[in-house]
Amino acid sequence: MTQLHCPRCSQVLGRQGDQIHCDGCTAFWPIQRGVPRFFPRAPYWGEVSQENMGCVLTDVESAGWRAALQRNLSPEEWARIGYLLDSESRPWESLVSLPDRPRVLDVGCGLGAISEGFARRGAELVCADAVPERAAFTAARCRQEGAADVTPIQCDAGALPVADGEFDVIVLNHVLEWVGCSSSEPDPRASQRRILSHIYRKLRPGGSLCVAIENRFTPVTRFRDPHAGMRFTTWMPQGLANRWSLWRRGTPYRTPLYSYGALGRLLRKTGFESTHFYAPLPSSRNMRYLAALDDKRFTRHALGQMFDIKHPTLSLAVRSVNTKLPLHWLLARCAPEFMVVAQRELDAR
Ligand SMILES: C[S@@+](CC[C@H](N)C(=O)[O-])C[C@H]1O[C@@H](n2cnc3c(N)ncnc32)[C@H](O)[C@@H]1O
Ligand SMILES: [Zn+2]
Repeated sequence: MTQLHCPRCSQVLGRQGDQIHCDGCTAFWPIQRGVPRFFPRAPYWGEVSQENMGCVLTDVESAGWRAALQRNLSPEEWARIGYLLDSESRPWESLVSLPDRPRVLDVGCGLGAISEGFARRGAELVCADAVPERAAFTAARCRQEGAADVTPIQCDAGALPVADGEFDVIVLNHVLEWVGCSSSEPDPRASQRRILSHIYRKLRPGGSLCVAIENRFTPVTRFRDPHAGMRFTTWMPQGLANRWSLWRRGTPYRTPLYSYGALGRLLRKTGFESTHFYAPLPSSRNMRYLAALDDKRFTRHALGQMFDIKHPTLSLAVRSVNTKLPLHWLLARCAPEFMVVAQRELDAR
């Protein structure tokens, strides 16, 4: 089990019965269903109702994770989580170089679709989520899929109870856009910057952050904000989006996204030395190709393959147009979402 550290004073934490405690600052936290709970205020959230998730957790050890879901979910819930059952659809583990028994932290692990890929590679995993049921389920799924060791924790992404410099890989897959919702900071982008800096420190020098987030300026969603559900808010400046959201829905705008350029700048400003951008096409839920946005040839190849044009004359015409058009530039601006591997420099302190 990964050694946990106090999120307040960084001391190593101890376990006593059903509690985790800190000798440094005398804080303690409960352990429920095997999950230390560092973030008690967090409300339940998920594709599956809390009641059904409780039944899944009761069955998960005896029935196996997939059967436990099948048995306890409504047909609508089962359809909703379909894309989360197949870890190969988001192959982060093939985009980073992994040592033997890599140490991986999945922040906002959800139902474990990403953690599972690392579990299959024999990783030592920490599965963290604001919702304890999700961390507990992911831990069970990963143990069953071959993880060397799994530690589930319920915590906030900005107060991770783990040591600095500990992880080879940290995953933040469709979580960065949500962190403003659980923070009291007035500016959600400030929460995102704070959490990225916090996560950066948890990586070992040379370690990789895997971050996926929708593209702010994609036209693919027909300008509908995938989180707020309103049109054009992703294109608005934060202040205007906030006022618009307050007027239309009565709630502030807390889920800002990034463009290709702004996300790269944000990661470099956080301290990451290099970034490699990818775009799952046509979307991450239904990925057929992963276009490397930093490699012009690959982008063209992926697009050519994806549209799979069989007619020889048409195919030749498309290929010759391909070489003239700035497809690579266009894709980086219009891709539905980005998957970015950002590396902490090797001699970072
Ligand atoms: C869209 S889901 C993504 C789940 C998973 N990473 C995946 O790609 O399948 C976002 C997850 O982040 C978690 N989350 C949101 N805000 C969080 C926070 N501040 N700290 C920790 N987890 C958070 C949610 O509970 C949820 O499980
Ligand atoms: Zn402490």
